[in-house]
Amino acid sequence: MSSSTSTRRLVIVSNRLPITVRLENGTIAYGESAGGLATGLSSFLDSYRSHFPDREGYVWVGWPGSTIPPDHQENVRQTLAEQHRALPVFLSGEEMDEFYLGFCNKTLWPLFHYFPSYTTYREDYWARYVAVNERFAEALKPLLLPDDVVWIQDYHLMLLPQMLRAHVPQALIGFFLHIPFPSFELFRLLPPRWREAILEGVLGSDLVGFHTYEYTRHFLQSVLRILGHDHSLGRIVLPAHVARAETYPMGIDFQRFVAAARDPETEAERNEIRATLRNMRSILSVDRLDYSKGILNRLEAYELLLERHPEYHGAVVLIAVVVPSRIGVDQYETMKRQIEEIVGRINGRFGTVAWTPVIYQYRNLGLHSLSALYSVSDVGLVTPLRDGMNLVAKEYIASRSDHTGVLVLSEMAGAAKELGEALIVNPNDRGEMADAMHTALQMPEEEQRQRNIVMQERLLRYDVTRWAGEFLKDLGEMEEVRNRFTAKLLTHGSRGDLLRSYAEARQRQLFLDYDGTLVPFVRHPSLAKPPERLHRLLAQLANDPRNSVVILSGRDRASLDRWLGHLPIGLAAEHGFWLKDAGGQWMNAPHPSTDWKLTLRAILEQHADRLPGAFVEEKEFSMVWHYRSSDPDQARPIAAELIDQLTSYTTGLNVQVLPGNKVVEVRTAGIHKGTAASHWLSGRMNDHILAIGDDWTDEDLFRALPPNSFTIRVGITNTVALYNVRGPEDVLRLLESLALSHF
Ligand code: UDP
Ligand code: G6P
Repeated sequence: MSSSTSTRRLVIVSNRLPITVRLENGTIAYGESAGGLATGLSSFLDSYRSHFPDREGYVWVGWPGSTIPPDHQENVRQTLAEQHRALPVFLSGEEMDEFYLGFCNKTLWPLFHYFPSYTTYREDYWARYVAVNERFAEALKPLLLPDDVVWIQDYHLMLLPQMLRAHVPQALIGFFLHIPFPSFELFRLLPPRWREAILEGVLGSDLVGFHTYEYTRHFLQSVLRILGHDHSLGRIVLPAHVARAETYPMGIDFQRFVAAARDPETEAERNEIRATLRNMRSILSVDRLDYSKGILNRLEAYELLLERHPEYHGAVVLIAVVVPSRIGVDQYETMKRQIEEIVGRINGRFGTVAWTPVIYQYRNLGLHSLSALYSVSDVGLVTPLRDGMNLVAKEYIASRSDHTGVLVLSEMAGAAKELGEALIVNPNDRGEMADAMHTALQMPEEEQRQRNIVMQERLLRYDVTRWAGEFLKDLGEMEEVRNRFTAKLLTHGSRGDLLRSYAEARQRQLFLDYDGTLVPFVRHPSLAKPPERLHRLLAQLANDPRNSVVILSGRDRASLDRWLGHLPIGLAAEHGFWLKDAGGQWMNAPHPSTDWKLTLRAILEQHADRLPGAFVEEKEFSMVWHYRSSDPDQARPIAAELIDQLTSYTTGLNVQVLPGNKVVEVRTAGIHKGTAASHWLSGRMNDHILAIGDDWTDEDLFRALPPNSFTIRVGITNTVALYNVRGPEDVLRLLESLALSHF
């Protein structure tokens, strides 16, 4: 961990706390929570505390796992705080129905696990999802200290990073998704409002983590296609901050499983299991009750094994542990019945008085029972249909102290990316799974050891502490990135200087860009009509006799005239090819040749024809190829090819090819916003110059101005301007303050 994050308090936020609280017969009972998130992070925090006792420590904020009546809440709050460093967010029965059982587990969970047919799309669930995320933000607000590092976990809280950032802009916020992020084709099934809000919500973080490279790639692709933000090596430059998406496969507390396997309590349980099994071989299956885990397919594959290999009758047992989960979601209840039916069928079909082929347990096991099962079983059978990571697979390998045992692992589990030495199977292929079980039962011990030793070394190296440590280290580094990017942000102090200079000046010159500066970007340039608020503001500024207001835009004359022509302001169209004084006529800068347009128009149109959504805008001294509305993935290679062709065609011509914000512009060289500005600067004694713009064409303007000018670039990006502001809203607010200042 970098020194900056290492001494800071860690605030973990997840839907489920690692401690589940229940009211049983009038008394409160505390128990450990099941599921990879809670078990994995708890192990990390245990070691965090023992490794770094002097650190500020951590607090874990989340739901205590059931509805706690108000008269017990204070008591629970105190116990959780004192004994578990946990802060409960209590949710009502209704909230749990619509948020947890509803949007989380009937919408996001099935969709993200590639079960679109199980996915429910309900407006009331969505509204509750937003509301509960807000509840978490509210609960965190009074708790957060300026130096805290906040680490938000999983799909229940995907809106929270952005909500929190709005409240505490300086907080360092990380987000980790513990389930798969599905491909764009699946994610887009969510209604546009929801999917945009979810992506924007997650992007409120500084760092977003996923278990596998594929999930990271899917996320970045959805961000590009849905929000239009491109990335560079996982970094996304947003108007207000930089977010990064990266892959961190979650590990386990390896030594904890090694120690558990050796513990006398485990040893006692192991002996009991051995006595029950007598000399039979055992195959172990452990999961939460969940359709994503492929339990039914697995049972059917085991049935097939028994059909195909009578030699295993009476010689092999399948121990199937199913941990109760999400009672209240229909599919889970149906599945429980189906599991029990198949277990009954297999046992009825093949079982004898002396042999039960499937030993089925529907309960949550403690560490020692689990460890005993892991270390006794010859085969670990982990075959989810889809799983973000799957820690059970890793725990099985870690528990094999003599290095024997065979892991049969689904290729659909995130863990398969790291455990390639396991027998990898497709969970939909029952035949393949049956064969793999057979191979596993027959595998020579030497081969078992060879495979397991490699996996154990890997799991030991990349354990849960390393996983969390790397995430937190990278999160810490995002603070430096942010500081670099925000170093020039117009702060309270510099804003004050600007306002004062403006107020004291007798002659002021204001240069303002239009698109992306005074109005946000829209899908088609013709839609960026100035709203009433902007009209009023410009009129107010222009009517002050001390001010000369000029809009310097890349737009054509006609649009500027239509929208702004009636105001007493100067206008520069096409980046300075056309100039018009307030109340005057359009005149053009020394006439450049536009002969090139004929040849280049054909190239631009050809490329627009090849890309749905792309179009060519023709202005008098420039042409623009727009592709904001096109599919970004399809657009990227075509835009690159276009730039390449244009550049080679224009060699030796007095023409510039300029890639911009979802546009490629071709224009005559030598005239730009800087040359246009000199038209208004010459002969005027300004004692306050302010220039604001949002892209590279405005950099020409900033460079051309005298050194004491106030120059502002919109968006967090590198610039020669003195300051950055985050977006058009900040610009309008600043200009409104200027318009209102009466000194
Ligand atoms: N687990 C448990 N009790 C049980 C069975 C499993 O505490 O009876 C733990 C197991 O040790 C593992 C976690 O639950 O750490 C399951 O995590 P996994 O990633 O395999 O699946 P998830 O439940 O998160 O989908
Ligand atoms: C998965 C999810 C976790 C969740 C766990 C148990 O591992 O990624 O966020 O806590 O399942 O599910 P539950 O609904 O009981 O919290």
